[in-house]
Amino acid sequence: MARYLVLNGPNLNMLGIREPGVYGATTLQDIEERLQQLAAQLQVELEFMQTNHEGVLIDRIHAAYGQCDGILINPGAWTHYSYAIRDALSAVAIPVIEVHLSNIHKREAFRHVSVIAPIAAGQICGLGAYSYELGLQALHHIVCNQSEE
Ligand code: DQA
Repeated sequence: MARYLVLNGPNLNMLGIREPGVYGATTLQDIEERLQQLAAQLQVELEFMQTNHEGVLIDRIHAAYGQCDGILINPGAWTHYSYAIRDALSAVAIPVIEVHLSNIHKREAFRHVSVIAPIAAGQICGLGAYSYELGLQALHHIVCNQSEE
């Protein structure tokens, strides 16, 4: 059974409270429950982690080396400038799908750049909590096709 890590970066623990006009009313717990239901359908295993500390996320990515088949990540604001998270993801060479609730391309200019996107298999944004569900499906698709090669 494939195992995937679902990572959320800074301030995503505040979903539901944080700028609902931008991020919606769905909480991170709601998102994780929806992903858990999808995981049961796909017959995959998920592990969730959210942190507001960059080094903690980097350590978790390192610990995933050889232990999981794919990473679904919303890096939050780190998306736009954390070369350290990008390097950690590259180092472990695990397939990555980047997701965002909001459409980062139609927001402030600083959000238009993702330093993670060039090392991700794909990026899904702008669809609220559904970005995560599509992201998990995409990740599973990639991983299944890889193992068929
Ligand atoms: C976000 C977009 C980022 O620009 C922002 O810093 C976040 C959330 C999103 O999911 O839309 O924290 O990643």
